[in-house]
Amino acid sequence: MFDAKKHIEQQVEEAKRVLGGKRALTAVSGGVDSAVATVIASRAIGEDLLAVTVDTGYMRYVTSEKVPESPYVTKLLQGLGVNIQLENAQDEFYEALKGITEPERKRKIVGAKFIDVFQRAAKTFGNAEYLVQGTIAPDWIESGGGMRDTIKSHHNVGGLPEKMGLKLFEPNRELYKDEVRKVAQELGLPREIYRRQPFPGPGLAIRILGAPPTKENAEVARVADWIWCQHIDKAIQSGQIPDTEAQYFAAYAPNWPVVGVHGDVRSYSGLALLRYITTLDYMSAAFGKLPWDVVENASIQITNQLKDNVTGCVYDVSHKPPRTIEFE
Ligand code: XMP
Repeated sequence: MFDAKKHIEQQVEEAKRVLGGKRALTAVSGGVDSAVATVIASRAIGEDLLAVTVDTGYMRYVTSEKVPESPYVTKLLQGLGVNIQLENAQDEFYEALKGITEPERKRKIVGAKFIDVFQRAAKTFGNAEYLVQGTIAPDWIESGGGMRDTIKSHHNVGGLPEKMGLKLFEPNRELYKDEVRKVAQELGLPREIYRRQPFPGPGLAIRILGAPPTKENAEVARVADWIWCQHIDKAIQSGQIPDTEAQYFAAYAPNWPVVGVHGDVRSYSGLALLRYITTLDYMSAAFGKLPWDVVENASIQITNQLKDNVTGCVYDVSHKPPRTIEFE
């Protein structure tokens, strides 16, 4: 039986031993994994830890008030005493991904750009020796190495430490998602964080399918995602959908136009793909057999609110395997 309290005690001690008297950096994405790693390290070394959160332009809207994710997370962690800095790099990312459609190239470019921005932000902090990362077990298992195949390059694993000459401290490395959530709760993180769904490092860039992740496409994907998540969240709150380990999001396929009709006007624009999966460990997943009225209401709102860009919605009924959870 996993003991979250014990894990924290051990990892804070370990962080003191490894990081004590040194400076460390951490990249905070907004997800539960990086938040947990950051709070553990912050408890151990306080102001000697600098957390940087990069707004790539591919982040979500969160909460029912449609708040942009990066400023929201910055405030939350500041409230917990973490020394955190927000870098707004949206335009840089949009520029770097101009015309890029291939998923692995998107991932590589986002990863490289992220390192640039992070390095720049970290410069002022100087002489950091360690990088604290929120890596959990499935991240390194799926990223290959040794005898394993690379299924996709998860961007939190490679790159940063080598480029910056930093050593790694990864307090969640042996944990699975359900265990990280227990640790987050035990650390006193709010529900918005401990129940937060995973979100890939490349963010909405890999949820704009087969098309370049322009600023405009990102906004369509962001709004579709927000509407979908609001409908699911409400259904969970009302008990209509069980509050189990799940991931749900919308992806946008601008290059897969379908014909529609609004009033008596013909439309011809993209699709929103709606995904909801339940899982134990994110290594395998099952699509959710959701109540149809939830799917229907979300679809109606998405196609109304985004009618210039989204003519139809499709619900993904594939398990992992053979699919992965993300689309790209
Ligand atoms: P897949 O799509 O591989 O996703 O079934 C498994 C879980 O990992 C998340 N994911 C990522 N997380 N960097 C991350 O930190 C990434 O590049 C990345 N790609 C996928 C995905 O959202 C799911 O929870």
